[in-house]
Amino acid sequence: MSTAPRPIIGVFDSGFGGLTVLRALLPLIPGAHFIYVGDTARLPYGAKSRATIARYAVESARFLAAQGASALVIACNTATALALEDIRAAVSIPVIGVVEPGAIAAYRAVGHKGRVLVLATAATVASGAYRADCARFQVEATEFATPLLVPLVEEGWTDHPVTREVLRIYLAEALCLMGPAHTSPQAVVLGCTHYPLIADPIRDTLRSLNSSATVIDSAETTARYTAHMLGHINPQPDAPDATFRCYATDSVEKFARLGSAFLGQPIPEVTLLDLGG
Ligand code: DGL
Repeated sequence: MSTAPRPIIGVFDSGFGGLTVLRALLPLIPGAHFIYVGDTARLPYGAKSRATIARYAVESARFLAAQGASALVIACNTATALALEDIRAAVSIPVIGVVEPGAIAAYRAVGHKGRVLVLATAATVASGAYRADCARFQVEATEFATPLLVPLVEEGWTDHPVTREVLRIYLAEALCLMGPAHTSPQAVVLGCTHYPLIADPIRDTLRSLNSSATVIDSAETTARYTAHMLGHINPQPDAPDATFRCYATDSVEKFARLGSAFLGQPIPEVTLLDLGG
């Protein structure tokens, strides 16, 4: 039996949403130990300024690097879009964000000159990060801010009439903005790690609005991209299951309760982390 220490991989999000990325990472990188930080005390990031988002994200990144992480996954679109370079400058380990994998997934879905609608937080939309990354693949991205969705998901209202009504209003407006059928999106990118939890209602709402756009959840793409970048593309069949430990900056009970839906398995223990104000 191998006694080599498990590689530690840090995963960070402003809250629970990044657990959808951790969920996709666990089976792809067996043998690894993941440390997840959810900065729930300071969520939402999506309505804050670039400087504040960068300061918060850098604090979590430094904490994870100090825990011995050999790589970091920024499982938050807002932190990736606004603070990826600040984080890379603050730690000396590889840092992987979610926007580029999302743009790659968009390109795979619609091809050159395809059109996508990106749903994201206000800060991510204002950064234009998706538009820029999609343009590198000649994919035209229209970004649309859907700020009410994060609090609804954080409340656990993933299958709730209020969430469905909010989605209907947002998506009708976004599709109208993109114009008639020949300019309508071929895919909708979930540009926020909270949104995979409401992928089904998003799909249903698109159909009810006569859109046949496919829904792209970049959690899987990010996980595959991370495994590839870290050289785990051919996992050893005899490697032990990956393990994880979660830290939250606010109520650990709430994190364990709601987070298990995002992770798809119980979170037996959550440690309270104080990153300051
Ligand atoms: N997880 C964040 C993202 O992917 C959204 C939540 C927030 O606004 O903090 O953009």
